[in-house]
Amino acid sequence: MSKRLPMLWPLQPHTAAKHQLLRKYLQVWMRVMTLGINHNKPAIFIDGFSGPGEYEGGEDGSPVIILKEAVEYMKQFPSHKPQLRFIFIEQNAERFNNLKGKVCELFNDNYHTINSPYSPSQYNNIIIYFYNHSFIDTINHLLDHMDGRMAPTFAFIDPFGFKDTPYEIIERFNKNSGSEIFVNFMYEDINRFLKLPSLQEHYHKLFGTDRWLDMLKNMNDYTPEKRRYFLHSLYQEQLKKAGYKYVISFELKNEKNATEYFLYYGTSHIRGLEKMKDAMWSVDRSGAYTFSDYEANKSQLKFIEFDEPDLNVLADELFNEYSGKEVLTNELKDFVITDTIFRKSVHSTAALKLLEDKGLITVKNRSRPYSYPPNSIIVFN
Ligand SMILES: C[S@@+](CC[C@H](N)C(=O)[O-])C[C@H]1O[C@@H](n2cnc3c(N)ncnc32)[C@H](O)[C@@H]1O
Repeated sequence: MSKRLPMLWPLQPHTAAKHQLLRKYLQVWMRVMTLGINHNKPAIFIDGFSGPGEYEGGEDGSPVIILKEAVEYMKQFPSHKPQLRFIFIEQNAERFNNLKGKVCELFNDNYHTINSPYSPSQYNNIIIYFYNHSFIDTINHLLDHMDGRMAPTFAFIDPFGFKDTPYEIIERFNKNSGSEIFVNFMYEDINRFLKLPSLQEHYHKLFGTDRWLDMLKNMNDYTPEKRRYFLHSLYQEQLKKAGYKYVISFELKNEKNATEYFLYYGTSHIRGLEKMKDAMWSVDRSGAYTFSDYEANKSQLKFIEFDEPDLNVLADELFNEYSGKEVLTNELKDFVITDTIFRKSVHSTAALKLLEDKGLITVKNRSRPYSYPPNSIIVFN
C-alpha cells in the first residue's frame, strides 16, 4: 500500500474520524496524566507510524494534531508546565523530513535547529524525539534502554498494512510500561490476503498465535460476516492476552460501506476505558462504534444526524444482571463501562430513571428523587 502512495495523500472522511477519536481522547489523557497526583511526572505519547504530518489538502496529520492539543492544554493552564514527551517514528525519509518541517512551522522554530531530542523554544517542558527508523526497531531500542521504567505512555500504532505490528512487540510494550495502545487493525488487507501462503508468517506474527488457521482450514464454513467476526474477536482476545485488561474497538468503513479497519484501544485502567468510550460516542452517537465514508458522503459531509441510542436496551441489561440483588451505584456504573457498549454517566442515569419509572428498582441512601449518587444503593426487584 505505501509503495503506491505519494509522499502526501488525500485525507478520507474515515481518517478524519480516526483523528477526531485521537484528539478527543488525548484532550482528557493529557490532563489526567499531568495534573493532580501526576503533577510534574512526565507523560509519553508515541506516534509509531507518524506519517508526514499533513495530508494532500493541507490537513493536519496525527503528530501535528496531538502537538496542537498540547499547546491548547498549556494555554488553558498557563502556570502549569506539564512534562510532555513525544516520540515520533517515521521510516520513510521524505515523510520524516516533511514531518520535522511541519513541527518546526508549528512552533515557529528554524528547521535547521531541530535535532532529536528537540524542545520548542517557547516550551521547554515539551521534549520531542524524532526517529527516522522502523517502528519495531525503535520500540525495542527504547524498551531495552529504559529497562521497564517507561513513564505512563499512550501509543498510537497506525501502520500501512499489517506486517510491521507483531503481537510480540505489543505484548512487550505492555509488560514494560503498563501502557495504553490505540492500534489500527487493517482488516481489509488482513482479510484479503489470508490465503496467500507467502504471508503465513506475517499472520502468525500479527496474531501471536496460529489460531487464525482454524478459519483458513474451514473457509467454506465462513460467510464474510463470520470471517469478520472471527478475525475481529481473535485480535481482541490476543490484545487481552498481551496484558490489556480492557479492549474496545471502533470500526471505520470506506466509501463502499465495507470495513477498512478497526481501531482497538487497550488499557488496564477503567477510567481510560471510560474516557475512550466517551470519545467514541462523540464520533458515533448511535452506539454502533462505527464511522462510514459511505454514510458521510450520503450526507454530503454536512452534519450527520445520528440516531440516539435506545436506553431501554441498557435498562434491560441492568435488570438481567442485577435482578433480585442490591448493588452500589458506583459498582453498577463500572459494570456499564466494562460490560456494555454504553457510557458511564449519562446513559446509566437515564436507564436507572427508566427502571425507577417502571417500579423495577428502589433506591436507598439518596437525598433527591431520581438521583443516583455514587454511594446510593439500587435495589432490583
Ligand atoms: C497510515 S500512515 C500514518 C498516518 C498518520 N498516523 C496520521 O494519522 O496522520 C503510515 C506511515 O507509516 C510509515 N511507515 C511504513 N512502514 C513503517 C515502519 N515499519 N516503521 C515506521 N513507519 C513506517 C509510512 O511511511 C506512513 O507515513
